[in-house]
Amino acid sequence: MPPTRIGVTAAAGAYSVLIGEDTIATLGHELDEARLGPRRIIVSSPRVWDLHRARFRKLGADRTPVLVDDGERSKTMATVARVHDALVKAKADRSTVVIAVGGGVIGDLVGFAAATYLRGIRIVHVPTTLLAQVDSAIGGKTGVNHALGKNLIGSFHAPSLVVADPVVLDTLPRREFRAGLYEVIKYGVIAEPGLLDRLRTTLPAIFAREPGAVAPLVADSCRIKARVVSADEREGGLRRILNFGHTMGHALEAATKFKRFRHGEAVGYGMLAALSLGVARGVTPPALYEEVHELITHLGPLPPVSDISAREAMAAIGRDKKMVAGTLHFVGATGRGATATLTDVTATEMRNALKRLGLRP
Ligand SMILES: NC(=O)c1ccc[n+]([C@@H]2O[C@H](COP(=O)([O-])OP(=O)(O)OC[C@H]3O[C@@H](n4cnc5c(N)ncnc54)[C@H](O)[C@@H]3O)[C@@H](O)[C@H]2O)c1
Ligand SMILES: [Zn+2]
Repeated sequence: MPPTRIGVTAAAGAYSVLIGEDTIATLGHELDEARLGPRRIIVSSPRVWDLHRARFRKLGADRTPVLVDDGERSKTMATVARVHDALVKAKADRSTVVIAVGGGVIGDLVGFAAATYLRGIRIVHVPTTLLAQVDSAIGGKTGVNHALGKNLIGSFHAPSLVVADPVVLDTLPRREFRAGLYEVIKYGVIAEPGLLDRLRTTLPAIFAREPGAVAPLVADSCRIKARVVSADEREGGLRRILNFGHTMGHALEAATKFKRFRHGEAVGYGMLAALSLGVARGVTPPALYEEVHELITHLGPLPPVSDISAREAMAAIGRDKKMVAGTLHFVGATGRGATATLTDVTATEMRNALKRLGLRP
C-alpha cells in the first residue's frame, strides 16, 4: 500500500505527516526534499534505539544518537537539560534538525528541548508507539511534568515533519499497543464512526499488527487530529473535542498517582463515564454507550477502579489545567461522530458517572 501523506497547518508553517509501511526507510529522502538539514541529530531512548537502530542506518544523521530514558518518570526538566547539554556539546546551530525517535514521552520532552534550544530549532517526529502515532506526534504540544502535576511545563512547537511507520509497532508490548487503541476509539466517537466499525471487524488483524490493518487506522486517526489542530492549534475551541473522555480519565490517573493506568486505559474509562453522564442527561443515545462499552470490553480487561474514591477523583478534576477560569468545558457525545461542549456539568453528575463505573463513593 502506498504511504498516506496528510498536511497540517500550523502558525509556524505547514508540515506533512507521512504514514505507511517502511516510511522510515524513506526518511533521509523526505528530509532532503523538505530541506531539513544538513545536520541531523537523533534523540531516542536506549530501549527504542536498541530495537530499531538498524532502520535508521541510511539516514545520514550524526553517527551517535543522543539517548535519554523514557517512561513518564523521566519526563522532567532534568532530562530536557540533558538533551540541551548534548546539543551544546554537538555544537548544534539554527540549521540543525532534531529527530525524536520514540513514544509520547520522548516526543514531548525532546520537542520541548528543541523549542527552547536557541529559542527554537526544527524537530521531526518519528513516533514509535501507537499512542504517539495517532495522537502526540501531531499538533505541536510539547512539555514535561512538574513534581506537582503532569505536563505543567511546556510550549507549542510544531514539528517540520512526522513519519509514522507501523512496522516499529511490532515490538510494542501488547498493553502499550492496546493503550493507543482507546485513543482511536475516541476519534471514532467524536468524528469518524467508521473507525468503530473497523475496530470491531478487523480486531484480530489489528492485534496481529498487520501493517495493512494498522496503517489505515493510524492514517484515519491522524487525518482527524490534523484537521482539528489545523483549525485550532492553540485549543481555543474545536481542539477541545480531542479531550473527550479525558476529564474523568485524567482524574483516575491523578487519583492513582499516574501509576496504575496507561494514559489510554484511563481514557477508556473516561469515555465510558462521559457517555454514561451524557445518557443520564439525555444528550447521548444509550445505543452509543452500549456500542463503545462493548468495544472497550472486547479490547481486554482494564485495571480495577473499585478501590478508587469518586470524591478523590473529583478533587483532581478541580486541579485540572484544562479548567478555563473555573469553567469546565466538558465534551459530551451527542451521536456517532458528533459532540457538544457542555459547560454546566456539575460535580454531582460527574461523581455519579464515576460511581456507575464502579468507583467507591
Ligand atoms: N503532545 C501531545 O499532544 C500528547 C498527546 C497525548 C499524550 N501525550 C504524552 O505522551 C506520553 C505517553 O506516550 P506513550 O504512551 O507513547 O508512552 P512512552 O513514551 O512512555 O512509551 C511507552 C513505553 O513503550 C516503550 N516503547 C516505545 N516505542 C517502542 C517500540 N516501538 N517497541 C517497544 N517499546 C517501545 C517505551 O520505551 C516506554 O517504555 C504522556 O507523557 C502524555 O502526556 C502527549
Ligand atoms: Zn489522550
